[in-house]
Amino acid sequence: MGRLSFRSVTFMFMVTFLVWSSLNVEFCNARRGKHWRQHGTTSSVSLYKKKGKNHGSNNHHKSGGKPKPKYASPPPISPPTKGYDNVPSTNLFDVTNFGAVGDGKTDDTKAFQAAWAAACKVEDSTMIVPSKYVFLVGPISFSGPYCQHNIVFQLDGTIIAPTDAKSWGSGIMQWLEFTKLVGITVKGSGVIDGRGSVWWQDTPYDDPLDDELKLIIPLNKTLLRHPLTPINSSLSGKMPSIKPTALRFYGSFNVTVTGITIQNSQQCHLKFDNCIGVLVNNFTVSSPGDSPNTDGIHLQNSKDALIRSSNIACGDDCVSIQTGCTNVYVHNINCGPGHGISIGSLGKDNTKACVSNITVKDIIMKNTMNGVRIKTWQGGSGSVQGVFFSNIQMNEVQLPIVIDQFYCDKSKCKNQTAAVALSDINYAGIKGTYTVKPVHLACSDSMPCQDVTMMNIQLKPIQERYHMYDPFCWQTFGELYTPTQPPIECLQVGKPTSNKIQADHDQC
Ligand SMILES: *[C@@H]1O[C@H](CO)[C@@H](O)[C@H](O)[C@H]1NC(C)=O
Ligand SMILES: *[C@@H]1O[C@H](CO)[C@@H](O)[C@H](O)[C@H]1NC(C)=O
Ligand SMILES: *[C@@H]1O[C@H](CO)[C@@H](O)[C@H](O)[C@H]1NC(C)=O
Ligand SMILES: *[C@@H]1O[C@H](CO)[C@@H](O)[C@H](O)[C@H]1NC(C)=O
Ligand SMILES: *[C@@H]1O[C@H](CO)[C@@H](O)[C@H](O)[C@H]1NC(C)=O
Ligand SMILES: *[C@@H]1O[C@H](CO)[C@@H](O)[C@H](O)[C@H]1NC(C)=O
Repeated sequence: MGRLSFRSVTFMFMVTFLVWSSLNVEFCNARRGKHWRQHGTTSSVSLYKKKGKNHGSNNHHKSGGKPKPKYASPPPISPPTKGYDNVPSTNLFDVTNFGAVGDGKTDDTKAFQAAWAAACKVEDSTMIVPSKYVFLVGPISFSGPYCQHNIVFQLDGTIIAPTDAKSWGSGIMQWLEFTKLVGITVKGSGVIDGRGSVWWQDTPYDDPLDDELKLIIPLNKTLLRHPLTPINSSLSGKMPSIKPTALRFYGSFNVTVTGITIQNSQQCHLKFDNCIGVLVNNFTVSSPGDSPNTDGIHLQNSKDALIRSSNIACGDDCVSIQTGCTNVYVHNINCGPGHGISIGSLGKDNTKACVSNITVKDIIMKNTMNGVRIKTWQGGSGSVQGVFFSNIQMNEVQLPIVIDQFYCDKSKCKNQTAAVALSDINYAGIKGTYTVKPVHLACSDSMPCQDVTMMNIQLKPIQERYHMYDPFCWQTFGELYTPTQPPIECLQVGKPTSNKIQADHDQC
């Protein structure tokens, strides 16, 4: 008798707790609803539906052709209540305990939302995306103005993006987003796969071209082809014209990305925007060299960033450092294919750009278009100050050293006198082979480049399929500390005579 009533009390407690938990999760979802509202397809009922299904049977793990044998005998599945029961006592939140199926077909977006909502409330919590599963997840924002600090997103499984146009609404800037967090770590051996080929095929003819393509002239004109000629595909024209970045961090402190791979992004792979304290370590980007606009890592308005020990193969810049970046250290990176490591483009549409204290060191470039490059638009203002490129191995790089202050993504841009001022730009230990032009330094007439220094430059030509050129400099002033190979006689020693004083508004 007493036993029975104890049981029913326990049962009632469990029911009450479950209902409370569900309400609570829903409340968090609702509060964050605006982040997901833009994409039309995630159904609002699926969280409850899925939970119901899970209670009824666990057969969802058997359905669907699983590529790996591991799927055939699924790991023991804990009842879906486990995650909820554990909320007070644990800080681990496994997406499979929140209804994620991980069969690569079921939309697991809602489950990820629910797991995040729970992890968000606990300091030092870990949201787990377990290995051996493939989670189909639509656009999602792991948003944190109300989240506790130091959350870990443990990614050991695979996350794939939807490839149907419907999932992306009329276009969205990022697929997986973490915003307004303090201490966020994404780590593990997992993979984020944007399955971007459906987007690349859709690249319109008027998508921005890399300006430096103009410098690369094939010997045999019959091989000349529009570099971004879209591949004819039955899918063509179906995806929105705005292509998402695969993984973006916005407005956060102490962001770490380590161990993971991002591949085949729709556009940029990994982006940091308005972040302070960024660490990228042991990170891999893998996309084809001809995938359009697929930057590896993009830094913008961010400071105190360390990007190290990573392999980046993509179709655009390996690392791109944009306006507002300071104290950035990039080292031990293998880059290629891709367009190399770039600062800029800066100053587009007469904007002001400020970049300072950038070190790029111990890099291996292989078959990249550019090596290390600074690119600015005519008409901009602001400055780039204190850039150190050192110990960079170039292997069959088309244009190893580039400064382009006439950047233009159309066939022609208007000439303007204003420019982003470049000074204290240092090259040391740039060695290896090139296939087009070893050095191309095109600085602004009104704002010549100052204090450009070079030391231990050894670049040997390899004739591939392009016209080859001697070093080129225009309005470039500074110093050669050692003889260079080939000789760079076009660099003007000293300071420009017409040393234009920057206007006040140009000061950063
Ligand atoms: C790099 O990450 C992988 C997982 O992707 C891990 O297995 C490996 O141990 C890591 N290496 C280092 C040096 O941390
Ligand atoms: C240019 O390439 C085409 C196609 O590969 C070839 O038929 C032609 O002989 C080449 N011309 C020269 C001058 O090498
Ligand atoms: C593209 O391919 C489709 C078949 O996949 C064909 O019907 C269409 O004519 C092709 N378009 C062009 C411009 O070649
Ligand atoms: C970021 O990490 C550093 C070093 O661990 C710490 O001193 C700093 O307080 C952290 N910043 C924030 C905003 O938590
Ligand atoms: C420049 O950046 C490095 C990190 O790359 C940092 O250690 C150093 O303190 C910065 N220098 C200045 C003057 O801020
Ligand atoms: C811009 O200036 C360059 C170099 O002085 C000149 O060759 C070019 O024709 C000018 N372009 C326009 C559009 O005026």
